[in-house]
Amino acid sequence: MDDIIEMILEDHKPLKRLIKVMKDSDLTIEERAQAFSEFAPLLVSHAKPEEDSLYVFMKKDDDLRGEALEGDIEHQLADQLCEEIKRTKDPETMGAKIKVLAELVEHHIEEEEEDLLPDFRDNSDLEERVSLGKRFVELKTQMLEKGGEDSPSEKTLQ
Ligand SMILES: [Fe+2]
Ligand SMILES: [Fe+2]
Repeated sequence: MDDIIEMILEDHKPLKRLIKVMKDSDLTIEERAQAFSEFAPLLVSHAKPEEDSLYVFMKKDDDLRGEALEGDIEHQLADQLCEEIKRTKDPETMGAKIKVLAELVEHHIEEEEEDLLPDFRDNSDLEERVSLGKRFVELKTQMLEKGGEDSPSEKTLQ
């Protein structure tokens, strides 16, 4: 459980649960918007620490670098979409954006679980994963203390 991989998988669980609600067109916009308002801070307090621990490590390894760069970009897109949803007034448009966000992050999580994390596991040792796990927890704690809500940076894609 000290292994960063286990921590990341654990973090994905509530995100996946909320994604299901956000995508469900049988639910009302209010219900889906409610799920989004829970989802957005959880996503930030997962994604930023992941970037600053796991992805930083992966970017130093030629075999893993590409996947981490793609992950960074997917995080940025999700971040931008979250900010846009918060500014959207029209309920129908908001519903459409929430669905696209849900699908984007669902796909991202799938790729992490099926490709990125297994490749990372094959190219790291337990000691490294435990030390990254410590870093991940530290960063996450710092973010939660700051209040996850208004932290997404409005980074533009470079
Ligand atoms: Fe993740
Ligand atoms: Fe991620």
